Amino acid sequence: MQATVLSGPQVHIAADYLTLCEQVASRIAGIVRSKPNAVLGLATGATPVGVYRLLAEMHRSEGLDFSGVTTFNLDEYYPMSPDSPHSYHRFMDEQLFAHINCRRWNVPDGRERGMDEIEADCRRYEQAIHDAGGIDLQILGIGQTGHIGFNEPGSDAATRTRLVTLDPVTRENAAEGFGGIEHVPHRAISMGVATILDSREIVLMATGRGKADIVQRTLSGPVTSAVPATLLKRHTNTHFWLDTDAAHFLDR
Ligand code: GLP
Repeated sequence: MQATVLSGPQVHIAADYLTLCEQVASRIAGIVRSKPNAVLGLATGATPVGVYRLLAEMHRSEGLDFSGVTTFNLDEYYPMSPDSPHSYHRFMDEQLFAHINCRRWNVPDGRERGMDEIEADCRRYEQAIHDAGGIDLQILGIGQTGHIGFNEPGSDAATRTRLVTLDPVTRENAAEGFGGIEHVPHRAISMGVATILDSREIVLMATGRGKADIVQRTLSGPVTSAVPATLLKRHTNTHFWLDTDAAHFLDR
C-alpha cells in the first residue's frame, strides 16, 4: 500500500480488489464508529460491491451499528420503478441495506413524472442532504467517460441534483445488464458535481485494466468538465483508491 500526492488527490494503490475493499470498508467503519449519526454518500456499480459485503459482515460479526447513519445514493436511472431489477434502489437494498440496520437510506426517485415534480424532488434531495448535516464521506466509482455519479462530460462544478442525459458510451457499458442497449434508459437523476464536492471526504474507487486509461487521464490531465472526475482535484480531501490494474498507466 502506498500513498502518493498527485496534484491534490491522494492516490492509494492496493495489491488486489479484496485489499482495496478492506481499506475502504475500514475507513467507513471508522467514521461510523466515531460518529454514530454519520452521513454517507453511496455509489452503485460493480466496484463498491465488495465494500458493501464487508460492511454487512462487520455488522453481523462485530455489531457495527448503522442505526443512526443516514445515506444518500448518487443516482438512479430515469424512468425507473424502484421495484425493477435494474433499479439502483433495488441494487442497494440487495447489496447492502437488507443486511445492515440502516433505516434512513435515500436513492433518487426514478419514477416517471412531470418535469416540475422532478425538479422539486431534486431540490428536496439537496435539502435533505443539507438537513442531515452534509455528507461525511462520499464513495464514488468512475465511468469510462470520466463520469462520477451520472455527471457525464459537460457537467460543470456548479451542477446540483438534476435530470441528466446519459452518454452513449455509458449506455453501451450498461447494455449487458439490461439485456440490450435498447432497454437502457436515456436519462437518469444524479447528484451534481457541486453536491459531491460539498462532501467532507471523497473516496473514488477504480479497479481493473478497463479503468486504467480514464484513471490516468483523470489524474494527469487538466481540470475540465469534459472529464468530470478531474473536478475532484479541486477538493482538498479526495482519495483515489486503485488496484494495480487500474493504476497501470500511472507514472509512479
Ligand atoms: C454507473 C454509475 C456510477 C458508477 C459507474 C461505474 O454509471 N452511475 O456511479 O461509478 O457506473 O460502474 P462500475 O463500478 O460497474 O464500473
